[in-house]
Amino acid sequence: MAGTLPPRQSRRQFLKAAAAVALSAPAHRASAAWLTRRRSVPVSEPRPDTTSFLDALDFSPPPVSNADSLLVPEGFTSEVLLRFGDVLNPSGDRYGDHNDYLAILPRGKDEGWLWVNHESVTLPLVAGVWKPPLTLAQTADCLRAMGGSAVRLARRPDGRWRPVVPDSRNFRLDGLTSRIRLTGPAAGTSWVRGATRAIGSTSNCGGGITPWGTVCSGEENFQDTWGDLELGDPPLLPIHPELARPPEHYGYIVEIDPDAPYRRRFFKHTALGRFGHENIAFTFTRDGRLAGYMGDDRDKQCLYKFVSRQPYRPDAGDENRDLLTDGTLFVADTEAGRWLALDPERQPALRKAGFDRARVCVHTRTAARLVGGTPLPRPEDVEVHPETGDVFVALTAWEARSAVHAEKYFASVAGALARLREADGDAGALEFEWSIFLHGSVDTGLAWPDNLAWTPARHLLASTDFAQKPEPIANSTQSLLGNNYLVVIPTVGPTAGQVTRFAVAPRGAEFCSPALTPDLQELWVSVQHPGDGSTQASSWISHWPDGGDAPPRSALAAIHRMRPTG
Ligand code: FEO
Ligand code: CA
Ligand code: CA
Ligand code: CA
Repeated sequence: MAGTLPPRQSRRQFLKAAAAVALSAPAHRASAAWLTRRRSVPVSEPRPDTTSFLDALDFSPPPVSNADSLLVPEGFTSEVLLRFGDVLNPSGDRYGDHNDYLAILPRGKDEGWLWVNHESVTLPLVAGVWKPPLTLAQTADCLRAMGGSAVRLARRPDGRWRPVVPDSRNFRLDGLTSRIRLTGPAAGTSWVRGATRAIGSTSNCGGGITPWGTVCSGEENFQDTWGDLELGDPPLLPIHPELARPPEHYGYIVEIDPDAPYRRRFFKHTALGRFGHENIAFTFTRDGRLAGYMGDDRDKQCLYKFVSRQPYRPDAGDENRDLLTDGTLFVADTEAGRWLALDPERQPALRKAGFDRARVCVHTRTAARLVGGTPLPRPEDVEVHPETGDVFVALTAWEARSAVHAEKYFASVAGALARLREADGDAGALEFEWSIFLHGSVDTGLAWPDNLAWTPARHLLASTDFAQKPEPIANSTQSLLGNNYLVVIPTVGPTAGQVTRFAVAPRGAEFCSPALTPDLQELWVSVQHPGDGSTQASSWISHWPDGGDAPPRSALAAIHRMRPTG
């Protein structure tokens, strides 16, 4: 879940209190109103008794736009905080390309960490060529530009949170050099070619914040870089043979611990499965175990839930990391409303096909199909409503007219937000209700939803992700709705499901992973791949954010209300 966490200490106290209540009082006997409403304990969301600058929806939405600028409502302004290529530390590490998931992790009142995923690359900007083949050095540059950036944050005297660059504590996770421990059932097995460590992380899309205050990053379209033997995908970005690595080492949830005492530590948690991980949204089961919901962003792939074997221990800090190494991975059968355990001991079909626990963690998509998981139209970001426990899922390509990628993208408006309601509101349940909360259409204003995040009033922030061409194709989403944009959607009350536009992206870009700052007075958002669709340097369709003749650059932007002057 994109978003903010309270400082470590206060969040631990909060979770400890909440977990204690949850463990001692079954929901049907609980007297606290918030508990009877919520049933599952929330993780890492702004408290509902606070208000962000967005919650009142007292702004005039910006219009449909094809302009090469970041549009915000009148009375608001945007500021670019970090751009692709910015130097992060005295060693010369740079902010990567295609910024995506953002996590703001306060460490005390006035400082903290910013985590940013780097999902992919704009080839001419990173490698200096418009298409492969790539030399060894160009391949290395591409791998170096993916992964993520950890950047120190500080609060300025005017109260605004800002990245501190350069700073010697800033560091990168990248696709080229980072050494990452494999954990869980598959580590060291033949399914990962005996490895206990992987080198590099790529295709880092959405993410989530653990209850112990670290960050998780989803390796999504790993096949674009490494290929995928399970589904037979060749790589899009042919890797130079000297840098080729096993595809089974990619496609995981990666945990980043920026505060590790000896050195920064990275973990690929195989127990959470291997697929096109969009993100992970954590919550707790009624009996105090850790649960995480995950989408697999690919057409006809599935929605998953991981439930730890052991309960979360509020006082144990990052020792709770072990919860992500041992548990049950479930796949959703949305037609029957059932969670199906990907457990060979419970599923004869898995045993018959030669699956043990380790193989489930690597060939997860095959296991999901064997037990009857429901193929969905690109399940992307997932968020858990902090009070009700309802799970919202962005189905990016819902009711797209064609399964063919190119046609699908240029079909008229599609997509939906689904709502999964666990039986008795318990994230540990084996049954659920499934419904479409909101359809994408010109009338509703929702289109191809990708990233989601909560505001304190429990509005959903949703970003669109539909393809952009230099000239819109007739009847395409772009021809009807212009550039990609960001909306606010109340989820309860009389305005539930009403879509209000808040910002419009520059040409060719999509907005990724909106995140409110801890003071709730700014929205930070990744502006990813401006200029996408350009075919040559002489005709970039975007020059954002630098303007003039400058090539476009992915960048992190902050949006806030303008303060009165004088
Ligand atoms: Fe990386 Fe599913 O968007
Ligand atoms: Ca999210
Ligand atoms: Ca995404
Ligand atoms: Ca996207």
